[in-house]
Amino acid sequence: MAEIHRYGSAAELAEGAARMLLAALVARQDGGAIVHLCLTGGRIANKVYAHLGGLVEGSGLDPGRMELWWGDERFLPTDDPDRNAGPTLALLAGRFPLDPARTHPMPSADGVADNAASAATYAKELGDTTFDICLLGLGEDGHVASIFPDHPSFDPTPHAVIAVNDAPKPPSERISLSLGTLCRSREVWFLVSGAEKADALRRAVLGDPTIPAGLARGTERTVWFVDLDAAAGLPYYRCIF
Ligand code: 6PG
Repeated sequence: MAEIHRYGSAAELAEGAARMLLAALVARQDGGAIVHLCLTGGRIANKVYAHLGGLVEGSGLDPGRMELWWGDERFLPTDDPDRNAGPTLALLAGRFPLDPARTHPMPSADGVADNAASAATYAKELGDTTFDICLLGLGEDGHVASIFPDHPSFDPTPHAVIAVNDAPKPPSERISLSLGTLCRSREVWFLVSGAEKADALRRAVLGDPTIPAGLARGTERTVWFVDLDAAAGLPYYRCIF
């Protein structure tokens, strides 16, 4: 049975998911462990990060024992505001100290031949890392990270990180973890807000294999944080109120 947390609004979702994320990170650091968190881009995720930043002080989280990774990136210059890593780091780094050696944004387009070279570089950096928690947004078309339905990015691949070209969501050039890498995560947490996501969310929760979100799952747990608008198409009996 899917674990779904439903909130009245996007703002409530962002606060609720941030609180649960912080508690889960603190729990995973128990006994001195290093926690690996994979971040996503997207509007609702940035709202979650804004809340998270404000909650860290006094929470017991040790930012020095947290490795931050990214699920996908728009292949743009470092200072382009449309990159996923920039706004996220601006929201988090201002609120608590992040160890640069443990912060792993995907490479930018500066000084790199192409996104295939960047994908290979990131694959090396990632190695066989297993994420404790992997956050994912959801596209209206059922995409996660930069893996799109009916698109070569959704083809089976032996690669941990892929270059994505002609993406249906701009910008067209991207880098993404492959579905196999996402599914290596212990926990996958979906963040989904807005009526335009309702159909994709319904299909994703039901495990529709024709969309990436129908297949992205954690090895231990998959959690859905949704607002009322996004949840409009979910059968009520699947919701935890
Ligand atoms: C990106 C994202 C993408 C995003 C979803 C949801 O680079 O665009 O990583 O996968 O998470 O499209 O984004 P929103 O929450 O903004 O709708």
